[in-house]
Amino acid sequence: RRIKLLEVRSELGAGTRGASLGVDALRVACLNKGSDYFRRFNSVSVPDQNQVLFDRNHFPKAKHIDSVYTVLKGIAGAVEQTLRFGEFPLVLAGDHSNAAGTIAGIKATYPHKTLGVVWVDAHADIHSPYTTPSGNMHGMPLAISLGDDNRECQRNHVEPETEFFWQKLKNLGEPGAKVTGEHLVYVVVRDTEHEEDAIIDRLGIKNYKLDEVKAKGTRQVAREIYERLRFCDMVYISFDVDSLDSRFSKGTGTPVEEGLNVEEAISLCRALLDNERVVCFEMVEINPTLDNMNTMATNAFDILEAATDAIQNRLRMEEVVSR
Ligand code: ARG
Ligand code: MN
Ligand code: MN
Ligand code: MN
Repeated sequence: RRIKLLEVRSELGAGTRGASLGVDALRVACLNKGSDYFRRFNSVSVPDQNQVLFDRNHFPKAKHIDSVYTVLKGIAGAVEQTLRFGEFPLVLAGDHSNAAGTIAGIKATYPHKTLGVVWVDAHADIHSPYTTPSGNMHGMPLAISLGDDNRECQRNHVEPETEFFWQKLKNLGEPGAKVTGEHLVYVVVRDTEHEEDAIIDRLGIKNYKLDEVKAKGTRQVAREIYERLRFCDMVYISFDVDSLDSRFSKGTGTPVEEGLNVEEAISLCRALLDNERVVCFEMVEINPTLDNMNTMATNAFDILEAATDAIQNRLRMEEVVSR
């Protein structure tokens, strides 16, 4: 089996412009390192939606949700096609709203398999239009995938046009919820709003905070995560680069202190991806326009190479076993 790189140049869900250039920044980091990483991949682009950003936003509580829906539908289709072709989709996307499209594509391919999600991020990304403080859709992918609006914490009035597209997003790939709270695990989430804390409590979602990661080590944390997800037939790993400490992640829209260092991120990804149930890996939120010396993408590329190595070793193992 081969890895298929899917690049998604959409930053529609972010509050700060520039994340659609993240893939280019990774490519620059790759070339500067003398690596042939990007030579080994074919990329499938999802249509560029950036013209939208010059138009007025009509959806204050879910900015550009109409265009986000179109982009996510394209991602779901590309991920599904890749999986059906027997390849491993490795998604390099702009902002994190795209992850809801990836998850929809996985579930469209395997509707009867139970999905586990590992979300490595400073943020919980579990807002709905009813609770969002910003209207930025990169804070909402998990509410889409869980199919949970958290209406008991409602603080926004949501217009019917927004609700229309929000319903469509939740039904992308296959109707309804793609994952449950017990099959979602956070790693180093540390910047949440209280509406998010409330739904995390209600659904009992586990979060491996930095202290716990440091105390147990990344290998042990990965072991525990797979123990928790033992009833999942397949696992998707979503890596937001702001999971890194803000010292190593200046080139991202919403950097947060007290995150992973680069070595920890590399060993975490190696440990997580060394598992036969992982069907997809995604990396998001690299914004080179906020960076100095492209350090974010350089760090992210080291992590990406390690993750890719681990995936490739595994795919090779599987081939040896099945021969
Ligand atoms: N919770 C904040 C919001 O909803 C920040 C979300 C940041 N998400 C991200 N993928 N960087 O606006
Ligand atoms: Mn995120
Ligand atoms: Mn984040
Ligand atoms: Mn905050």
